[in-house]
Amino acid sequence: MKSIEQKALFIMFGGTGDLAQRKLYPALFNLYKRGYLKENFAVIGTARRPWTDDYYHEIIENAIDGLTDDTAQAKAFASHFYYQSHNVNDTSHYQTLKDLAEKLDAKYALEGNRIYYLAMSPRFFGTICDHLKSQGILTDHGYNRVIVEKPFGHDYASAKALNDEIAQTFPEHDVFRIDHYLGKEMVQNILSVRFANSMFNAMWNNRYISNIQITLSEALGVEERAGYYETAGALRDMVQNHILQIVTLLTMNAPVSYSAEDIAREKINALKSLKVYSPKEVKENFVRGQYGASKDQIAYRDEDQVAKDSLTETFVAGKLEVNNMDFAGVPIYIRTGKRMKTKATRIDVVFKQMPTVVFDDKLKHDVLTINIDPNPGISMQLNMKKPGQGFEIETANIGYQLTDEQKAGVPEAYERLILNALRGETLNFARWDELSYSWKFLDAIREAWDAENLSDDAFPNYVCGTMGPKAADKLLAKDGNHWEYEG
Ligand code: BG6
Repeated sequence: MKSIEQKALFIMFGGTGDLAQRKLYPALFNLYKRGYLKENFAVIGTARRPWTDDYYHEIIENAIDGLTDDTAQAKAFASHFYYQSHNVNDTSHYQTLKDLAEKLDAKYALEGNRIYYLAMSPRFFGTICDHLKSQGILTDHGYNRVIVEKPFGHDYASAKALNDEIAQTFPEHDVFRIDHYLGKEMVQNILSVRFANSMFNAMWNNRYISNIQITLSEALGVEERAGYYETAGALRDMVQNHILQIVTLLTMNAPVSYSAEDIAREKINALKSLKVYSPKEVKENFVRGQYGASKDQIAYRDEDQVAKDSLTETFVAGKLEVNNMDFAGVPIYIRTGKRMKTKATRIDVVFKQMPTVVFDDKLKHDVLTINIDPNPGISMQLNMKKPGQGFEIETANIGYQLTDEQKAGVPEAYERLILNALRGETLNFARWDELSYSWKFLDAIREAWDAENLSDDAFPNYVCGTMGPKAADKLLAKDGNHWEYEG
């Protein structure tokens, strides 16, 4: 049997950071526990701080605290980690890094396989990639793959510049751009719902679907990330990446096979069919909001590092059009926001109503809900006969939910994506072409908004703990629709 063990050296840029400690080290540990990483791996953590290896090991052990009771196992895992203080602009530091990388390659028999993980500000990506190449850190006898964290650019122009810089060192198939939503179980399940079930496959088009609703609501506020969020806003933070990836998976045509190439081709076609709005259309089809205080929560403008007159949006709702043969005419409503009523990530596919022929009453729409978080599964709302005497129709729900045992076996998004990168599987990563279309769509909205000169008192326009501004409901009401999910 082929071993599942992967052999590689990870070089973590941003190795002291929050993301590394909260997500990446636990993900590596889970891969270790499941046997994907064993003896033949090592990690070099780099950042500016002058940490010792011992201190780094403590950090690693803390990061995985709670994932094991076995201290010997935790220590054995941490012993694979090495810390190298590093200034990304200083070429001499890359020489030290190179020496350490070669030493570890020999010590752990890593066969020249390297993963460079860029978990720091994108403004350094170009410099790092450039030095990795010029200072000879890339190996010639294994693979060299780069994993890039979001945000990938600020608009189309900056994303392109970033991509061009990375492309000087890494070819497209070695670039793994993280969108952690693509690592979620139920996001991956969208393709099986659509292409493994003749019933859904037959109905997945404008003849049967009335509209699609995508909700990514969060109950949390901006927490300690307000500095970043002020420059991003909900549109860049959630729509450009996670929401558009979901829209794409829902509206793409069937791929020729379940391969990264064939799927990417169809995803790109779906993005090409996404209508880029004029400023007038942006006004008609997009709503933005910002949360104000509630009894228990402070307003966005009162958060640390947020300007008192900030016009950054913490909520977006919109109506999208994907103009391919199957989806032309089907409104795709999206919404996302901070400090909403609940944390819920879900898709509601609303089917057309049956005509009132057999039954006089107006029947409810059938709705297929794909629940991504927090309770992964799918459910269907159907019209059924009310049990008992007489004949009345009522709505009934049938559902499939992952059991606790199944959920325990589902890898966390980062664990899944890092293993994909180790295996060279690009399917669950965003390609440059996908990003380029998504940024062009987004830029049109951002530019229209920027030209609007919103007055200071336009925000706040929704209260913490609600489902966003009223205008988000009106957006659907204009079409005779309503949000299926009310929080
Ligand atoms: C991130 C955003 O990409 O996704 C955050 O930057 C957001 O602002 C997060 O909170 C939501 O992810 P999840 O997996 O909790 O839905």
